Amino acid sequence: MKVLITGIAGFVGSHLAELLLKWGEEVFGICLPDESLENIRGIKKELHLTNCDITDFDRLSSVVKRTNPDEIYHLAALSSVGKSFSHPVDVIGVNIRGTLYLLETLRNMRKKVRILIVGSSDMYGVVKPKDIPITEEKPLLPVSPYGSSKAASDLLAYQFFKSYGVQAIRARAFNHAGPRQGIGFVVPDFASQIAKIEAGILPPVMKVGNLSSKRDISDVRDIVRGYRLLMKKGKAGKAYNICSGEAYSIKSVLKILISLSKKKIKVKTDEKKNRPAEIPILMGDNSRMKRVTGWKPKISIEKTLEDTLNFWRRRYS
Ligand code: GDD
Repeated sequence: MKVLITGIAGFVGSHLAELLLKWGEEVFGICLPDESLENIRGIKKELHLTNCDITDFDRLSSVVKRTNPDEIYHLAALSSVGKSFSHPVDVIGVNIRGTLYLLETLRNMRKKVRILIVGSSDMYGVVKPKDIPITEEKPLLPVSPYGSSKAASDLLAYQFFKSYGVQAIRARAFNHAGPRQGIGFVVPDFASQIAKIEAGILPPVMKVGNLSSKRDISDVRDIVRGYRLLMKKGKAGKAYNICSGEAYSIKSVLKILISLSKKKIKVKTDEKKNRPAEIPILMGDNSRMKRVTGWKPKISIEKTLEDTLNFWRRRYS
């Protein structure tokens, strides 16, 4: 089986590539010309890598056709919600065009290629308490440029399936964390500061944003296992939440991370981290995913946080 991953050198892409290699797949990957390959250092030799910017339609199209994959996992995206408020043009441009260009390429190929379009719970926006846990039937009402870009991608996947029979499966991932996730997301933002404090690079004061929000956080290794199962068992055109079904307050995430350090750490709110619009709670209903694929998360939040903190400790020690 030939599998193509867009964004293979990213946080999620690198974990997915490792998993697919273990399953004996032939893994092809697309990364940006100037992208760091640090995340895939250990497996680089086993991969077929191509430089390609997903916003270049002609190049993307020719790479996909030349690779002639059986399956595509579309992960390449600008994925920080916080940063999307200051770079809406880039986020909308890259995320929507990337998805559209892939779907448009597949529409014109004779071979039926299955493609997993990776969406986000951020596209649900602010959901009423009575609608929690969020099912796939809830309306898409995003409140961030990132959420809008993911909602559009999800709808494009649906439309290309309905109009042209493109075999697109719509994965709606809730928050996930783990080793290799970059700065700009809450767990690495917190864990990297703790590691820097321990290494004496920062004074023992952590800067944090809004601690009152709640997120359904899974381990990235569980999420990529879910993506593979969806690729194998998901129905084209259908949407699937991938989430733990539990919500943790950001305050409790911070508390666990601080408890993993021997340092005495103070916490300071940084107003600059507040967003123009915030989603108070994201907690998903994963029953469709469980029923169709048999998936369930295996890794505890404590283990995810500890592994992530150790990742940052290795970087700064
Ligand atoms: N990033 C960040 N950094 N967020 C902070 C911080 C901080 O220092 N302090 C508090 N927060 C709060 C944010 O305001 C938000 O309420 C929550 O922590 C989670 O923030 P993120 O980790 O940036 O995640 P997100 O929920 O906005 O989006 C993530 O999840 C989506 C799925 O729901 C991202 O991983 C998206 O790419 C993903 O699609």
